[in-house]
Amino acid sequence: MSYFYFIFFIVLSCINVHCTTSLGTSNKRQTIEIIIGGGGNSGSTPVDCPPPPPPLCPPPEPESLPPPPVPKPPSPPPPRKVPTPKPLSPPPPRNVPTPKPPSPPPPLIFADQRLAVVYPVIQKFKNLITCDPLNITKTWMGADICKYKGFYCDTPPDNITATALASVDFNSFRLGAPSLDGFLDALPDLAIFHANTNNFAGTIPSKILELQYLYELDVSNNKLSGAFPPALLAKNNLTFLDIRYNFFSGSVPPQIFSGNNLEVLFINNNNFMQKLPANFGSTRILYLTLANNKLTGRIPSSIGKASALTEILLLNNQLSGCLPYEIGNLTGLTLFDVGNNQLTGPLPCSFGCLGSIQALNLAGNMLYGAVPEVICALGNLKNLSLSGNYFTQVGPVCRDLIRKGDLDLKKNCVPDLPFQRSPVECAMFFSHPRWCPFSSSYFYIPCMPSHNAHLSRNKTSSSAYKAPSPTYQALIRHRL
Ligand SMILES: *[C@@H]1O[C@H](CO)[C@@H](O)[C@H](O)[C@H]1NC(C)=O
Ligand SMILES: *[C@@H]1O[C@H](CO)[C@@H](O)[C@H](O)[C@H]1NC(C)=O
Ligand SMILES: *[C@@H]1O[C@H](CO)[C@@H](O)[C@H](O)[C@H]1NC(C)=O
Ligand SMILES: *[C@@H]1O[C@H](CO)[C@@H](O)[C@H](O)[C@H]1NC(C)=O
Ligand SMILES: *[C@@H]1O[C@H](CO)[C@@H](O)[C@H](O)[C@H]1NC(C)=O
Ligand SMILES: *[C@@H]1O[C@H](CO)[C@@H](O)[C@H](O)[C@H]1NC(C)=O
Repeated sequence: MSYFYFIFFIVLSCINVHCTTSLGTSNKRQTIEIIIGGGGNSGSTPVDCPPPPPPLCPPPEPESLPPPPVPKPPSPPPPRKVPTPKPLSPPPPRNVPTPKPPSPPPPLIFADQRLAVVYPVIQKFKNLITCDPLNITKTWMGADICKYKGFYCDTPPDNITATALASVDFNSFRLGAPSLDGFLDALPDLAIFHANTNNFAGTIPSKILELQYLYELDVSNNKLSGAFPPALLAKNNLTFLDIRYNFFSGSVPPQIFSGNNLEVLFINNNNFMQKLPANFGSTRILYLTLANNKLTGRIPSSIGKASALTEILLLNNQLSGCLPYEIGNLTGLTLFDVGNNQLTGPLPCSFGCLGSIQALNLAGNMLYGAVPEVICALGNLKNLSLSGNYFTQVGPVCRDLIRKGDLDLKKNCVPDLPFQRSPVECAMFFSHPRWCPFSSSYFYIPCMPSHNAHLSRNKTSSSAYKAPSPTYQALIRHRL
């Protein structure tokens, strides 16, 4: 099996499952750990490098400076005219023949021509490193690139007898560099690039679209900025893109939601400021985090067509308008989180069709009306957060959930429940006219799930919901 598909397979299988099995070589194991949030220096406390420079970001190691200033006996003429420490020795006269030609460094023997190609690329990047608190780049020496810290080799898809630089894992290395240009885009066989928690600045190199094997790019928690990288919109093989915790701004182009192979897109914690595009539902993404940006406007009703969606995080934005009933069409959805936005209107009964949903967070909005019993009856639901809204009615199935601790309805307007808003606050809210388009759609239940027939839950245990969720992990800055 080619490495591309091998790793690809692992990625897909590990998104859902907590992989603990050892799967062969350490390269591949490393890959797995990265996906489920490991890799890198899990033990050390992750700290940012440049902001408090002195202790954490020492000046670059001497050997990473371009001209090594250490004079060695058989070295060629002195690099520059510097005042020599010995006052009596004049600079060597120019026309005196040097005793011997400088002995060249022993030629590096590379295991494969493909490694010889990336060697100068890595060395050039090493010279650009401004910050290396863990002394990682010290290991970037000599011909055995596959043993450099952070670099992993494997067989490339196009030649099973060759050895190529297949993946880079700089997670938690805290390296600093002004740019990834000429590095990331100059490693032709790269399949995986992971660099969570470093101090890389600049933008994502546009030539990255020429990397035909690249399918996983994680540059989260860096200092990257600019508009959403246009190179990532081109038709490519990218399936996993994680640019969360950077300083990207502007808007995410609509093309990212159609016509590509993306399955995982984490762009939370940037400065994206936009409406969700109308083609939003064309996406084939499974795991999507747009949380902690500045999204505005409505959730497009096209979302109902995004049938691959498994987890979506939209919390902490400025989304407004009413919830489209089409969301109820997303039968594969396990996690839907739109907490802390400005959504209003009733909770559509169609949510009772979300047969796979485990966690549903609508807290901190301006939703009102009755909590539909069909939703509380959903068999897989383990955490329903509706606190901080203006719901006024709740039936017996939902009350049962409250007793079990699976439904949080605090800070609403249900008269006979504890921890509600004051009657004055509720009256103020309802003194403004409230209205949603297609009002009859809020009662429409497009499915007739048998497990809802008696509106009673039949769960073996109501143990506290533990997020198994890769998207909730994406809300944490560092990979754990
Ligand atoms: C890195 O190298 C410097 C100088 O060689 C040393 O003082 C420092 O302790 C090293 N840091 C780590 C984390 O190994
Ligand atoms: C495959 O890689 C090997 C090792 O680098 C090389 O000797 C061989 O020529 C390559 N074959 C092709 C068809 O490129
Ligand atoms: C995607 O991968 C396939 C097979 O590895 C390759 O033939 C194709 O050129 C790649 N596409 C792009 C746009 O790089
Ligand atoms: C619901 O999903 C089906 C199939 O997944 C799709 O054909 C249909 O257009 C969707 N309906 C809405 C209202 O989004
Ligand atoms: C509910 O649980 C009981 C006991 O575990 C079981 O016998 C019954 O079939 C379940 N009902 C449904 C609708 O799953
Ligand atoms: C339920 O979800 C809310 C909102 O996401 C979260 O704050 C809370 O910790 C969750 N509860 C449990 C028990 O996981």
